[in-house]
Amino acid sequence: MEPVTLGLIGCGNISDAYLTGAANSKLVRFKACADLRPETAEAQAARYGIAALGIDQLLADPAIEIVINLTVPLAHAGVSLQVLEAGKHVYSEKPFAALLKDARAVAEAASSRNLRVGSAPDTFMGGAHQTCRRLIDGGRIGHVLAGSAAVISRGMESWHPNPDFFFKPGGGPILDVGPYYVTELINLLGPVTRVTSVATQGYPKRTIGSAGRRGEEIAVEVPTTVNGVLQFASGANVSLTASWDVWKNRRIPFELYGSEGSLLIPDPNFFGGTPEVTDRDGEWQPVDISAQPFGTPNRSLDDGKSVADYRMIGVFDMAAAIRAGRPHRANGDLALHALEVMEAFGRSSAEGRHIAIESTCARPEPVPEGTGEEVFLQG
Ligand SMILES: NC(=O)c1ccc[n+]([C@@H]2O[C@H](COP(=O)([O-])OP(=O)(O)OC[C@H]3O[C@@H](n4cnc5c(N)ncnc54)[C@H](O)[C@@H]3O)[C@@H](O)[C@H]2O)c1
Repeated sequence: MEPVTLGLIGCGNISDAYLTGAANSKLVRFKACADLRPETAEAQAARYGIAALGIDQLLADPAIEIVINLTVPLAHAGVSLQVLEAGKHVYSEKPFAALLKDARAVAEAASSRNLRVGSAPDTFMGGAHQTCRRLIDGGRIGHVLAGSAAVISRGMESWHPNPDFFFKPGGGPILDVGPYYVTELINLLGPVTRVTSVATQGYPKRTIGSAGRRGEEIAVEVPTTVNGVLQFASGANVSLTASWDVWKNRRIPFELYGSEGSLLIPDPNFFGGTPEVTDRDGEWQPVDISAQPFGTPNRSLDDGKSVADYRMIGVFDMAAAIRAGRPHRANGDLALHALEVMEAFGRSSAEGRHIAIESTCARPEPVPEGTGEEVFLQG
C-alpha cells in the first residue's frame, strides 16, 4: 500500500506519542507539523526530521492527505473545519469538539465534502479491549445487564506543563478522561439511549504543580465530580463516576456484569492489561490477550508501571481504510455519539432530568487477530 502522508497541527505534550508511534510505520509517514507557537513546531520538526510550516502552508501542501489535530479541546472544531475546508481528511485528539453543536458542524462539513473524520480515543482497538470485545460477543458472560466504571484522581494540575485547558469548557473529567470509558463501553455494548447524572465542582481554583508555572492558579469553570448512569439500547445499565476531587480511593475501575458471569476490563486509557472473567459464582480467571495486536507493554510510566501505549493505531486504521475504501473504526459517527453522551452528563445535572440521546452509531468492526499494523490491511 502507498503510505498516507500526514501533517500535524498542535505540537504540545501529546505530539511525541504520535510522532514516535508513526516512526516505523509502512502505512503512514509524517511530512510536516505546525503550531500557533512556531518555535514549538520547529522543535518537534527538528527532533523528528520533518518540516515546520505555518498552518496555512501545511494546509496548502497537496501531498498531505490526513491532518492530525492535537490542539487543545476548545480549538479542536475550528482547526478540524479548516483542515476539511482545505480538502483533507482530519483525525482529532479527544474530545472530538468541546461542544456538541461544533462537532456536528465538523461531521457535516466532512460528509458534504466526502472527506473522513477520525477521533481519539483509539484505545478501544488495543489488545486488552479487543479481547474483552471477543469475550462479550462470544457470550462468555451472557447478556450484559449492568456495569460500573470509575475514573478517579486528584486531577491534572500537578503534572501537565499547561494544565489550564483541563478546567475550562471542553475539559473536566467527563470530557477529558470520560472519552476512554464511554468509547470503550460503546465498542463493547453498542449505542446509548439515555443518561442521567449529578455533576459538582469540588474546588473553585487549582494550583499548578509543574516546574515552569508552579504556584499559578487556574479558575475552575467545569464540574470536577460527576456521578452518572448510562442506559444502552441493549438494555444494559452502567454507572460512571469521573472525578478530579479525590485524594485516595479503592474503587474497582471498570467491570461488567452479565447473566452468566462478570468481566473486569483493564484501564481504557491504555491498550493492554489483563482482563479477568468469572462464571456465575466461579473464581476470577486472567485472560490471555496475546492473539490480538497492540497489547504488549512498550512504555513505563513515572511510577514505574509498564503500559501498552499505541496512540496512533486509529490513524493507521484510517489510512488503510482510505486506501481500501472501507469504513475506519475510530470514526466521526462513534466520536459524535460519544460526545453527545458526555455532554448529556452536564445537561442532565443542570436540567435535573434524564437526557435522551438522539444520535446513534454502529459498533466499530473488531480488529483482526495478528501482529502489528499489518492487521489493518486485512480490513
Ligand atoms: N497530554 C496527554 O497526556 C494527552 C493524552 C491524550 C490526549 N490528549 C489530548 O490531546 C490534546 C492536546 O493535549 P496536550 O497535552 O498535547 O496539550 P498542550 O497544551 O501540551 O499542546 C497543545 C498545542 O496546541 C497548540 N495550539 C493550540 N491552539 C491551536 C490552534 N488553534 N492552532 C494551532 N495550534 C494550536 C498549542 O500552542 C500547543 O502547542 C488535548 O485535546 C488532550 O485532551 C493529551
